[in-house]
Amino acid sequence: MASKPHPFQCTSCGATALRWTGQCATCSEWNTLEEAVELSASSGAVMTAEAVVVRDAIPQHHTAIPLGLSEVERVLSGGLEPGSVTLVAGAPGIGKSTLCTQLTVFAAATGHGALVIASEESLAQVARRTDRLGGGAAEVSVLPTSDLAQAVAALETTDAALCVVDSVSTMTDATLRSLSGGVAQVRNAAEQLSSVARRRGIALLLVGHVTKDGELAGPRALEHLVDTVVSIEGDRHHTRRVVTTVKHRFGPAGEVGILDLGPDGLVSVEDPSATMLAERGIALPGSVATVLAEGSRPLVVEIQALVTPSVGSPARVAQGVSVTRLRQLGAVLDAHCDLGIGRSDVFVACSGAVKAAEPAVDVAVIAAMVSAFFGRALDARVVAVGEVGLTGSVRSVLATSRRLEEAARVGLTSAIVPPGTSVPTGVHALEVATVADIVAAVTALSPSSS
Ligand code: TYD
Ligand code: MG
Repeated sequence: MASKPHPFQCTSCGATALRWTGQCATCSEWNTLEEAVELSASSGAVMTAEAVVVRDAIPQHHTAIPLGLSEVERVLSGGLEPGSVTLVAGAPGIGKSTLCTQLTVFAAATGHGALVIASEESLAQVARRTDRLGGGAAEVSVLPTSDLAQAVAALETTDAALCVVDSVSTMTDATLRSLSGGVAQVRNAAEQLSSVARRRGIALLLVGHVTKDGELAGPRALEHLVDTVVSIEGDRHHTRRVVTTVKHRFGPAGEVGILDLGPDGLVSVEDPSATMLAERGIALPGSVATVLAEGSRPLVVEIQALVTPSVGSPARVAQGVSVTRLRQLGAVLDAHCDLGIGRSDVFVACSGAVKAAEPAVDVAVIAAMVSAFFGRALDARVVAVGEVGLTGSVRSVLATSRRLEEAARVGLTSAIVPPGTSVPTGVHALEVATVADIVAAVTALSPSSS
């Protein structure tokens, strides 16, 4: 494609300019000039002015591409839709390429062709990983290029039903003057690739990098362009990986998949609630089980707390739990029962790389802090569910019975719950109306006191 000068456009007033300048000559705003991006002819958007009656547009054969990993299928509502665009986002080394490779291997093995456009790795590297993950003999094609025109041309001609672009962050359009990896380049690449994939019915996976603080580097601007955003999270030093959808156009967003990353790639965790509980080992002071219900499946997790004497101003450190929420719960506990926790350092974590962002974990967080502070381990069968308000009152939360049924299924039959909670058969309820009641419950449910 011949290189032609693209005018720059001010994002503030819309004026165009032939050259980039720091200040817009028309409106005088600073740093508002961006390269005006036009879809190239090769992206080939179908120009039709004719509307189509819905009954003629309903696809006759609806075949989502199977993924081979039950925990990822749960998150993506069963499979990848033909013509859909999915952004796979995660920090470096978290397993994005591993996941995409496994998906291409499975797609190829089930008769759906797969194409990998590798802009970061050589053909040999991709081939080695594909072989390592069991796809040595699979019909996976690889095109190592970071040139957008080549990638678009490959998408235009491929027979593959699934195409991975690893990564979209490093695809470069030689006709654009902006730097490779910049927002204009990344957005342009995503637009052109998506346009071809949608028109040709190819399921497209775009890999995007996320910085340490969770920002999509460049691809943040892509969220509205794609149908689905899948995020992979976890601690690089541990094997557990949590896959979720931040946005999903083909089913409910927020479903959670739990996998382990090992030498053979990602493996779905069987029965995540039971696994999380088994990993907890013996119940120690500061450990309280609770149940998350972010997606349709309730998930038992362990909240851990450590309370230590503070030197200097009291620290509040949270992992998997909002630190703002932790501060608030600490303040509420302090205001209503002054145990001295407010003057201590408090560390709280949710097990297994999972984010416990729901208020439903409040009671467990407070119970864990109290258990840690007193050095009293709760009975191993205890589960805590409920929200704590600023007044110190305990409120019920959504899906309480689903949460308690899941807890009971894995043997958690002693429930610290808000007043009036109906519990499943076989579950013993200890109702708590206030934070003071939670403190009393911890004392009552730690074996040393019985
Ligand atoms: P990868 O999927 O390449 O991560 P990303 O694409 O998100 O940057 O790698 C995930 C993990 O797999 C990483 O911690 C290193 C490990 N790994 C191996 O054990 N062997 C290998 O051959 C490769 C490529 C990665
Ligand atoms: Mg990678």
